[in-house]
Amino acid sequence: MTVFFQTGKFSIIRKCLNAPICNSLFIRNYSDPVKKFKSFSDVIAQRKAEARRSLVVQVNSETSFNELYGYCSKYASIKDIHHYRNSEKEHFMLIEFETEENVKEVLKACSSHQKDVDVMPIESPFLWFRAAVNKKEKLSCPSTKTLATKDGIEPVDNDLLYEELLNCETVTQQIQHLYERTKLNDLGVRLRYMVARQFEVIFKSLYANVAVQPFGSSVNGCGRMGCDLDLVLSNVLTEDMSDTRRRLVYQEKREEYAGGGRGGARQLELLGALLELRVPGAGAVRRVLAARVPILKCTHHLAALHCDLAASNTSGVYMSELLWQFGALDPRVRPLIFVVRHWASAVGLTNPHPGRWITNFPLTLMVLFFLQQKRKTGFILPSLKVLVDRAGKEDIRIAEENINCTFLRDLNKLPHEEYGQSGEDLHTLLLQFFEFYAQFDFQEHAISINRGVPIRKPNALPLYIVNPLEQAMNVSRNVSYEECERLRAEVRNAAWLLEEGLEGKKGDDWGVLRLIERKDSRGLKQLLRVGNSHRLVSVKDLFNEDDEDVPITKSKKTDAEVDKSVKEMRRVTVEKKEQKIKFKNSQIANEVYRIRRNKIV
Ligand code: GTP
Ligand code: MG
Repeated sequence: MTVFFQTGKFSIIRKCLNAPICNSLFIRNYSDPVKKFKSFSDVIAQRKAEARRSLVVQVNSETSFNELYGYCSKYASIKDIHHYRNSEKEHFMLIEFETEENVKEVLKACSSHQKDVDVMPIESPFLWFRAAVNKKEKLSCPSTKTLATKDGIEPVDNDLLYEELLNCETVTQQIQHLYERTKLNDLGVRLRYMVARQFEVIFKSLYANVAVQPFGSSVNGCGRMGCDLDLVLSNVLTEDMSDTRRRLVYQEKREEYAGGGRGGARQLELLGALLELRVPGAGAVRRVLAARVPILKCTHHLAALHCDLAASNTSGVYMSELLWQFGALDPRVRPLIFVVRHWASAVGLTNPHPGRWITNFPLTLMVLFFLQQKRKTGFILPSLKVLVDRAGKEDIRIAEENINCTFLRDLNKLPHEEYGQSGEDLHTLLLQFFEFYAQFDFQEHAISINRGVPIRKPNALPLYIVNPLEQAMNVSRNVSYEECERLRAEVRNAAWLLEEGLEGKKGDDWGVLRLIERKDSRGLKQLLRVGNSHRLVSVKDLFNEDDEDVPITKSKKTDAEVDKSVKEMRRVTVEKKEQKIKFKNSQIANEVYRIRRNKIV
């Protein structure tokens, strides 16, 4: 809250905040040599510009494409249209136009819904496509134009993913494949920026010069499909706004500044009400105002997202930049982070709800720290100190509460010998990751990516992971002794499982499969896979075909009939008591019993 609502100590921050955005707007000279690394601020600027050129329109189905294309192209030129469905299976098209002016033209031609007078209209980039009144008007698009994406945010089906992983040749391929198939895709990122844009447009009706910026896994390169959207609202005072030569100054509502505290919390309350009452798509708003960084939580059903909105958490954005940079330095970093996050979720180390367990962010720092360790051929990532030492004037960033977020931004200036020295493949690295933490002295040592070497713990908290931007803080201070012990046990177990899974012939859960399948469904998955065919068997294969108690016919059935007979089978099964069913063997019987007890089927 402090930065957002204070103007006094903002002068240094202001320059720094504005610098990268402005830099990225300069048109690059084509004679410039091609740079190996794009900067984070360039990527952000590109995504924001994309969002300003885009609109999201709810439609009847994907077949509305032709008509929508025909209608919008009367007003503007269209670059691409992406289709997706939300969790209620409603259809949407994200249209990217050629220019921002195009969007303005289309918006000028919008109407508001008049039927229900209780609904106050609002302008935002989320629209819907009304059925045509004049049916004679023929709208169509050129035959060369097709949807750029269909069902674009549907996550990969788990069974299909596991089958694909099963068919990989090596563990390294499996890890790479897992990353490619589960990472947040282009449309997922676009939608996140559309929501940020919508919030920004609406909040601007109350606050001058505010920006809403995504941070966290949506932008740091570690996000998977369906990850939450972390947003921060910040003040972007421009040079013009603070020019003391300008003598006419806006009156302000002074009593509301009050730094953080109650004043700040009241502003968030107001934004919460705004989300509830004025932001199309936003709902289920929860206010978490007592936290160190107060946030508003909400869902956005038009974009199929969960959002966390903080006010003035600029250090969170810089933290995302840092993680993004580490991920950009070597192509092995992000796949390794992904597989570790998948594994931690599968074994229940992480959990979507807050509690006394580790979360994805500290876990990611653990992976980075491991990659900073010197191995035979050198290290893969530099310590943060190297990036700080190489920072220039243009890299100075000071966030709220004077948090120094200065580090080298242009990775092209980092000498080659400072990163990517070791040539191990992902398989070796994953095994080494587990072995490294299996032997790590959590009792005595803290993990710090600032130095890249273990440091002595300043207190007795079970797990100590230094916050890279506020080194006096521990990002895993919430982790209990029991959870830390579980982490130690699980890394040991994972190292063992990974090694054991590679001995001899590839089994049905070889390589990373046995690490990333949820413990509660692992038994079932293994059971349903048959031999080397790697196909899933049907439910009836679980039962003995000679068993008269179970009504299964061998004739070919329609889907509806199969569905009916499975339901019937379940009913009979329950009615005639479990012991009456004869399973192929006792292992299957035990497994089915366990699964039923856990209510998985
Ligand atoms: P998922 O949401 O689990 O996919 O990962 P995430 O990286 O987005 O984590 P999360 O939503 O928990 O946090 C969002 C961002 O806030 C992180 O990426 C960090 O930049 C920052 N963050 C999270 N936890 C802490 C913390 O304890 N201290 C600080 N300073 N920043 C944090
Ligand atoms: Mg997040």
